[in-house]
Amino acid sequence: MSGGIRTPGVERIQAAGALAHDDELDRSLRPRRLGDFVGQRAVKEQLGVFIEAAKGRGEALDHVLLAGPPGLGKTSLAQIVAAELDVPFVQTAGPALERKGDVAAFLTALEPRSVFFVDEIHRLPRALEETFYPAMEDRKLPITVGQGAGARVVTLDLPPFTLIGATTRAGLLTTPLRDRFGVTHRLDPYDARELGQIVKRSAGILDVGIDDEGAEAIAARSRGTPRVANRLLKRVRDYAEVRGAGHIDREVAEEALDLLEVDRAGLDRLDREILEAICVKFEGGPVGLSTLAVAVGEEPDTIEDVYEPYLLQQGFLKRTPRGRVATGAAFAHLGLERPDERGPATLF
Ligand SMILES: Nc1ncnc2c1ncn2[C@@H]1O[C@H](COP(=O)(O)OP(=O)(O)OP(=O)(O)O)[C@@H](O)[C@H]1O
Ligand SMILES: [Mg+2]
Repeated sequence: MSGGIRTPGVERIQAAGALAHDDELDRSLRPRRLGDFVGQRAVKEQLGVFIEAAKGRGEALDHVLLAGPPGLGKTSLAQIVAAELDVPFVQTAGPALERKGDVAAFLTALEPRSVFFVDEIHRLPRALEETFYPAMEDRKLPITVGQGAGARVVTLDLPPFTLIGATTRAGLLTTPLRDRFGVTHRLDPYDARELGQIVKRSAGILDVGIDDEGAEAIAARSRGTPRVANRLLKRVRDYAEVRGAGHIDREVAEEALDLLEVDRAGLDRLDREILEAICVKFEGGPVGLSTLAVAVGEEPDTIEDVYEPYLLQQGFLKRTPRGRVATGAAFAHLGLERPDERGPATLF
């Protein structure tokens, strides 16, 4: 991998194609009901109770905040809540809401008890957050009518609704907003058994034959993330169709994953480039996020949201006040020798 020629333009085109395809795949594989949603037992159990209680009372479910890294099932879960409540699902995202009028348009048009899903709620403009406070708490929406001296505030009554906010960065939410959610769940990475179940379920939907060991092999390299598991499954299926008999067993899965450059720890090429940059270019670190991002040609946000959580969780990376530091495990994984303890200090 080191010294590999990067052709960012081509990679981006390929990535865009793959993403569009993965989007379609995501939709067909999305669990529809609570019973299809694998893992996250505590979250499912609690939501199940709250949903049943709200339905029994004929009321809207309390507002729900779902936090966690990308691809763990936040959007799926929000849609499931609406399906289980048997109410409409209306969807937007923090960055798409620019003015108070945008929020008002959504909220006033909601059918009673609808789920209003705001993805990336941490990216909601600060000024708009305050619009949500009375809407969430009292189902009131004060709006200013008219201009200048004739301007006055009228308060609109809103139908009962459930706001479901999803965020990859719960820490960026202001306390007043966070406090207005009656239910908060953090989704954790899935274990190998759960990922194996997800792979088997998806293989069933995609109508591809797979045995337990094949599913295990894919699960082991899915970095705790259902979206990754599904994506790998699809690529392994291609491989099995072209190079094998279409059936996925351990051997086929491992050959395909090696070809995809997903290693045994579940790290892909960019994961390894990040670690290698820290280990080699920055002599183990510490290195700041933006410097690291430039070194590997990726957005700082992508590194922080998509790559780092898994590298941290696997113990390859540490965050320190002075920046990111590669651990001994990272050096070992890359087959590199760790510079002696005085190494990084000579940088300063
Ligand atoms: N618990 C689960 N059981 C089965 N499949 C799941 C589960 N969670 C996620 N998936 C699969 O992973 C895909 C990604 O999940 P989803 O889009 O809900 O993640 P997300 O947390 O909203 O991600 P993002 O932060 O990127 O928006 C889904 O299409 C679905 O196929
Ligand atoms: Mg989502």
